[in-house]
Amino acid sequence: MRLFSKISLNRLRSGSIVGEQGDHIFLVPPFTPEVAASVSLISTRLPLRADERSRLLCQMETNAMSEREHQALAPLFGKMQKPQRVLEIGPGFGRSVVYFSKKGVWDEGADVHLYDSNGTETKYKQEYYDRPPQWPDVSSFCGQLSLLRSFLDYNHIAGYRIFDAAELPLCKLPGTYDLIYGFFSIGFHWSLEFYLDDLNPLMGKNSVLICTLNKHFKPFTRLRDYSTRILYCRDTKKRAAPLRLLALSKGELPEVGITLAEAFPGSKL
Ligand SMILES: C[S@@+](CC[C@H](N)C(=O)[O-])C[C@H]1O[C@@H](n2cnc3c(N)ncnc32)[C@H](O)[C@@H]1O
Repeated sequence: MRLFSKISLNRLRSGSIVGEQGDHIFLVPPFTPEVAASVSLISTRLPLRADERSRLLCQMETNAMSEREHQALAPLFGKMQKPQRVLEIGPGFGRSVVYFSKKGVWDEGADVHLYDSNGTETKYKQEYYDRPPQWPDVSSFCGQLSLLRSFLDYNHIAGYRIFDAAELPLCKLPGTYDLIYGFFSIGFHWSLEFYLDDLNPLMGKNSVLICTLNKHFKPFTRLRDYSTRILYCRDTKKRAAPLRLLALSKGELPEVGITLAEAFPGSKL
């Protein structure tokens, strides 16, 4: 039955996405037209409509993606102290903060900050990668903070703080943080190089930053100022190459995954 549900959903809606029905950790609320439209803007990978089938497809894919990221990062999380202060950059509708909270990546008492803003269009195209809008231009943001709050409430996740990027730049967040992460956000759609100055005051010596890398990523010289490791994460797109997650710190990182030089031979870093 489980296999049948998976195959039939995939055939009907999105043959290229891998996901499973079952016990989902991140729960997606009913898809009203407004919810479906906002989620579609954030998650352009899925063909979504305002119906139950789309809600389930979204729930399957986001849980599968979060599970894969969690598995890929497990060696790193296993060697770090549990973070007490956490920042997610570009949480969208909150799948990762829900998944990581429920998986105990941090304890209930941790300070969890989320940084995003409202927007009505995406700036995901490669042309923006080397020219991302810079604050106070927040036109790259495509989230909806009320939607984020409602998804967190629906999943009974409390004790977080949401910071609106339209009101304050990244560098003014109340750091430092033990863990900063962003999936399919900075570092993926927009080169991490443009955010390092803003991230600097948010990071202490042992802070760890994690982001998904774009498949066109090339190491850049400023990465030499940090310790870095690359961890591989299976994609939810069938037959897609594994995604690369970059871990970066001012201090030493545990020897998990592989080095940047191993991941990008010939990059001279
Ligand atoms: C593709 S969505 C990913 C959402 C979520 N991280 C996930 O994986 O489901 C990109 C997110 O980055 C946010 N974003 C856009 N510009 C940003 C910026 N300059 N800094 C941080 N986040 C940004 C968007 O608003 C959106 O929530």
